[in-house]
Formats: sequence, C-alpha cells, structure tokens
Amino acid sequence: MLSMLPPALGNAHLLLLHLPIGLMVAAVLLEIWTWRDAAARPLVEKLLAVNAVAALLTAGAGLVLAAQGDYPEEALNWHRWAGVACALVATLAWWLRARKGLTAGRVGLVALVVATVLAGHLGSVLTHGPGLFSRSAWTSDPGAGDAAWAGVGEVHAVIAKHCVECHGPTKQKGRLRLDTVAAAVRGGRAGAALVPGEAEAGELWRRITLPRAHRDAMPPGEREGVSSAERAELVAWINGLGR
Ligand code: HEC
Repeated sequence: MLSMLPPALGNAHLLLLHLPIGLMVAAVLLEIWTWRDAAARPLVEKLLAVNAVAALLTAGAGLVLAAQGDYPEEALNWHRWAGVACALVATLAWWLRARKGLTAGRVGLVALVVATVLAGHLGSVLTHGPGLFSRSAWTSDPGAGDAAWAGVGEVHAVIAKHCVECHGPTKQKGRLRLDTVAAAVRGGRAGAALVPGEAEAGELWRRITLPRAHRDAMPPGEREGVSSAERAELVAWINGLGR
C-alpha cells in the first residue's frame, strides 16, 4: 500500500528529518535561556508545537520510505518504531508543556531529547551500517598486522566497482550488503555470501562465475561482468581469509 505512493514522498523523509532534530536543539537551548529570562517561555511552547508537527510529518514520510526502500529488515524495524515513538513523544512533550505546566514540560523535553537521539542513532545505523565507526569496512585501511586484510585494497576496488551500488549503504538487494567483510560473511536472504578460506563455497563466487545470461548472475543484466583477473584477486583474497 505505502509502497504505491510516489517515491518523492518517501525521500522527503531524508530531508524532513533534520527539522525535528534542529527544533529539538533550539527548544532545549531556549529552555536553558528561560532560566534567566522567563519572558522567553511561551516561545519554547511554540517551538515544541512546530516540532510535534515536523516529527509527525517526518515519521509519516519515513513509513512510506520504509515500505519502498530495500533496507535490512531488523535495523529497519528498530528505526521504524523508534521513529514513530519519537513523533508521539514530540506530541506529548508539547502537550505537557502547554497544558501541564513547567515541570511536566521539562520532563517532556528530556524525554524528547532521549527519543530523538535514539531514533536518529538507529536511523544512522540503517543508512551507514553498524560498521560506520569500525575498521571492518572495505573502505578502511587494512589493519596493520591483520592477516584478513592482506590484499583488501584491490578486492575493495572490485567489489566497489561491481557490487556496492546495489549491495551497500543505500540499497541492499537480496538483503545483502557487501561494503564490509563482516556483512558479506553474514550474507543475505540465501545465507553467507563469503565463506572465509573457501572461495568457491560462497554464494558470491557462484554468482560472479555463472554464465552472464543466467538470471542469478551478478552483477545482473547488461552490466560488465567481473573479469577473470578480478576473479583471481577475489579467490586469492577469500582463500587467505581466516588463516
Ligand atoms: C544492479 C544491481 C545489482 C548489482 C550491481 C549487483 N547485484 Fe547482487 N543482487 C541484486 C538483486 C536484485 C539481488 C536479489 C535477486 C537475486 O537473488 O538474484 C541480488 C542478490 C545477490 C546475492 C544473493 C543474496 C542472497 O543472499 O539472496 C549475491 C550473493 C549477490 N547479489 C552478489 C553480488 C555481487 C558479488 C555483485 C558484484 C559482483 C553484485 N551482486 C552486484 C542486484 C545487484
């Protein structure tokens, strides 16, 4: 159902989400300011009202994007429900401030900060992966003394060139990411894509060595296949993994 709506509506989430974050920060700063200048208090309430609307719109667009995008399911669910909760907390924070007085309003504001940080964090895990700050990304430097990273520079180039467009941070076709070694080993719908030490055992290898016309061949369609020199690099690297 939601996936039938225009993609622009889902993509709006990525733009809108900055609004409630900015408004939340503004409301907190202004609230601190009101400790010295009580005249600014009504403004906090207005900010929270605008924030509630922005959060509800963001969550709505997010639900559309979730139905349209190809995101890993578990990470998506966490962010989806944190986002919906965040929109509800934003509405509650405004209501507490407007109807229940200053103390209740401050409690609401704290809850809003927690909900926004949590939903934002889970959202970043969704788009960047948990490996964002770890070294286990294809894009990171091979760790010194880490045998698993031997030759990863060239391997990274092969995967980045042929695969990451559809199996990376933005799209996860077949629920598979190939932008980190850990994600490749974890695999996708069909299980592990990489079996360390056994190049020919993994689904990744099967797919890149299929006849180009085969429907399972990767990369699919008219795209240029992985050359035999590139395959040789992959084999040597996968066979060296875990040794
Ligand atoms: C144009 C987009 C696209 C590109 C580029 C692409 N893939 Fe895929 N891949 C898909 C789609 C769509 C699926 C899911 C359908 C299927 O299983 O065939 C998939 C599925 C897979 C799977 C099975 C995942 C699972 O567990 O079901 C593997 C393994 C895979 N791709 C490996 C690769 C490798 C390796 C490359 C680079 C050499 C690559 N893909 C490039 C679109 C792409």
